[in-house]
Amino acid sequence: TRPLKVALLGCGVVGSEVARIMTTHADDLAARIGAPVELAGVAVRRPDKVREGIDPALITTDATALVKRGDLDVVIEVIGGIEPARTLITTAFAHGASVVSANKALLAKDGSALHAAAVEHGQDLYYEAAVAGAIPLLRPLRESLAGDHVHRVLGIVNGTTNFILDKMDSTGAGYQEALDEATALGYAEADPTADVEGFDAAAKAAILAGIAFHTRVGIDDVHREGMTEVTAADFASARAMGCTIKLLAICERGADGSSVSARVHPAMLPLSHPLAGVREAYNAVFVESEAAGRLMFYGPGAGGAPTASAVLGDLVAVCRNRLAGATGPGESAYAGLTVSGMGDV
Ligand code: NDP
Ligand code: HSE
Repeated sequence: TRPLKVALLGCGVVGSEVARIMTTHADDLAARIGAPVELAGVAVRRPDKVREGIDPALITTDATALVKRGDLDVVIEVIGGIEPARTLITTAFAHGASVVSANKALLAKDGSALHAAAVEHGQDLYYEAAVAGAIPLLRPLRESLAGDHVHRVLGIVNGTTNFILDKMDSTGAGYQEALDEATALGYAEADPTADVEGFDAAAKAAILAGIAFHTRVGIDDVHREGMTEVTAADFASARAMGCTIKLLAICERGADGSSVSARVHPAMLPLSHPLAGVREAYNAVFVESEAAGRLMFYGPGAGGAPTASAVLGDLVAVCRNRLAGATGPGESAYAGLTVSGMGDV
């Protein structure tokens, strides 16, 4: 069987782990896919940076030329941000490649248009890594729960802020000290304002609500409040009441069934609540649905290797689809629910 050609756009915290696992587990991946996977090129910004384990001949700063090659099967986008990621993804579709992305900011802004572009060109767009790092969450929501009726999705979906809040609460660390540590560990976004002001969690809430409720939700539909105002005094008050403070994302169907709301804000949680015990950069998400009842998804929510695990799962799925001459499930049918910011509080 011919090798499937993969281009990697971005080789930072996530991309370098994707490349490492593709190389070290090449035989396993080939066995699971049914064909070998070949890294055909790696686009970066700084070509002279030493990148362990990557053939320097594969490195390029011309991501556009890479996605226009015409012989690629899959493009993995782990650059982040809106541009040039958006144009590179649509160019990849137009040149016959499917796309795996971890870019929640872009998906929450332009998911519908990107899905439409994928369909137009008969390609896949997968992005399990965009929400809750390593935790399999989007595929269970889209596929395993497709026959059920989801009422609510609620949880911790940002590892950086959970890490900071956990450190502030458990060790008395200061906000900046904890943020610096989260950044050094590769959890924070390139601009950590996206984490601490709640934009990253809001993007994830928009993606989750869109998939869970089969409708279109953009980041601007999500009420957002970050955690920069949470102080040591707030933790002391919370503790006096047997509580802690977590940044929650809450997506729910309105009582009338015809509306959806999504919001992100810090919340006090009793220490007995399962979300109160979520430490460091872990994430945890409850899904409440009519038939299944209450499901909990829990695991590492950020970091290079955990996120690469989700990216590689998508890579295997997309490659299998390709060999089968098929595409996977695309965007949910649009149910046209009214979207509001806060819902019932
Ligand atoms: P990094 O900043 O570590 O890496 C970004 C990479 O993109 C770098 O290799 C950089 O090149 C490259 N790059 C930047 N601009 C360009 C450009 N114009 N052309 C080509 N390459 C470019 O980010 P992360 O790996 O942390 O994140 C990547 C994506 O994954 C983002 O969308 C992020 O939101 C998402 N994500 C991250 C997680 C995490 O825990 N870090 C978890 C889940 C998702 P150079 O190396 O030369 O600087
Ligand atoms: N910055 C993000 C977080 C990365 O801390 O959750 C994972 O999406």
